[in-house]
Amino acid sequence: MGALVVSTGSTTPAGQPADGAASSAPRPAAVVVLAAGQGTRMRSSRPKVLHAVGGRSLLGHAMVAGRALEPQTLAVVVRHGRDLVAAEVERVDAEALVVDQDEVPGTGRAAQCALEALDARGPLDGPVVVTASDVPLLDGETLAQLVAAHVTDGNAVTILTTVVEDATGYGRIVREDGTGDVLAIVEHKDATDAQREIREINTSIFVFDADVLRRGLASLGTDNAQGEMYLTDVVAFARAEGRTVRAVITDDPVAVEGTNDRLALSVLGKEMNRRILERWMLDGVTVVDPQTTWVDVDVELAPDVTLLPGTQLHGATTVAEGATVGPDTTLTDVEVGPGATVVRTHGSLAVIGAGASVGPFAYLRPGTVLGERGKIGTFVETKNAEIGAGAKVPHLSYIGDATIGEGSNVGAATVTLNYDGVAKHRTVIGAHAKVGGDNMLVAPVTVGDGAYTAAGSVITRDVPAGALGVSRAQQRNVECWVERRRPGTPAAEAAARARADAGPDPADPAPVPAADAAPEGTSH
Ligand code: UD1
Ligand code: CA
Repeated sequence: MGALVVSTGSTTPAGQPADGAASSAPRPAAVVVLAAGQGTRMRSSRPKVLHAVGGRSLLGHAMVAGRALEPQTLAVVVRHGRDLVAAEVERVDAEALVVDQDEVPGTGRAAQCALEALDARGPLDGPVVVTASDVPLLDGETLAQLVAAHVTDGNAVTILTTVVEDATGYGRIVREDGTGDVLAIVEHKDATDAQREIREINTSIFVFDADVLRRGLASLGTDNAQGEMYLTDVVAFARAEGRTVRAVITDDPVAVEGTNDRLALSVLGKEMNRRILERWMLDGVTVVDPQTTWVDVDVELAPDVTLLPGTQLHGATTVAEGATVGPDTTLTDVEVGPGATVVRTHGSLAVIGAGASVGPFAYLRPGTVLGERGKIGTFVETKNAEIGAGAKVPHLSYIGDATIGEGSNVGAATVTLNYDGVAKHRTVIGAHAKVGGDNMLVAPVTVGDGAYTAAGSVITRDVPAGALGVSRAQQRNVECWVERRRPGTPAAEAAARARADAGPDPADPAPVPAADAAPEGTSH
């Protein structure tokens, strides 16, 4: 996806190929992610950086982008919602260093706390990348291009900037006439009217020389409109030492946009999705309606997958070659096999085999494993269920805590009764078995290989291999009941006509025959 970075006022050629820049970029000594801020405009009890787009927290996006540079240390500065944020750092990247910011406010103090913690592991030397934690579309390639420009130009500080229509609230980039180098970053609240006319802004994504950063931070005060230590003041410090500070303008402003409120969260989430889908389409995936299709960052799709409208693929979902998913399907951490079809389905932590068929209106709960060419059909719910190759559960069933062998067929409206009120039990159906329609399988219970059960049975005892299990009341017919008990109704009239057509009434209704226990009424 990487944004092309256009360098101005520097010797770096514009629009260098992303890959080349990324691979030639030197490894920074450290990447520091600033994540101690509060994010009040989210109006959330959750720390801002834990809000997610594309199935990954804002913090997670920042950390993944930073880790792509392969720094010696990836550090994250935390304070607001400290324990929750630190837990997310650990979850995303167990190697990352959590640094606590103290009560001194400001981005400068955040960077200083990080530097102290990093220096404690051995004095830091070389380029240090500092990034904000709320810029989800920023990727490793863009950061790598920034590091490459920093090293090539021998800068003390390199700032990623962008030009916006309305720069209100942002730090302005003050450039030197002639060279175009950066003289200072002036915060909106501290800026003069003339400086507020500047539309080039600081994105809070930088590369610093470690030594300049260390000494610059040590020189910082809080004598400014917000009474904070400004990281941005390190720029003026470097200039005062006669060092070079340059800005690299990205031509992809969205990629450096921060997430200040829920409107931005939605806009950036949508844009991330658009970019993800664009990448998959170029890789050979058909996305019929990108507007209604949502695919998380970590999802993997193979060539010739088709995603129909209303499909959402979350988490670690993978879809293999030639499979079709949708319409109106939501899968989280589901593995879809090659050539499978999944229609109007809600699923999580399930595996769907090659050529298998699921839905419409199926609910796959965790632990569902459907074999090759198997079928989970309409209005079927499954959980902890292994359904073998070619086995079918076509209609209106609940299959929970069950194993179904290959080639077996489970009749419509069959339920595995796995819960006795205290514990869960397993139902085991062998290979090539045929469970009749409307069966209640009271677990623990086993239906053997090649066994049948009769329609409407309540199976409480094991059915041996090859046996027919029957458990239901016998049928009796009470002749002429409707004409006697419901005279004058359309039913009685229809019955009378039918009996007249059939010939003279039997003098004496035949006795009720014994019901045949054949497994009629099963379904396919
Ligand atoms: C900062 C920059 C400003 C830039 C803007 C871009 C400074 C002084 N200003 O503004 O030039 O245009 O970002 O969005 O740096 N943070 C901490 N600890 C703190 C304060 C902030 O870790 O004490 C973190 C936040 O979590 C966030 C980042 O630093 O990731 C930027 O903070 P934020 O408050 O959003 O930016 P501003 O200070 O308004
Ligand atoms: Ca602030």
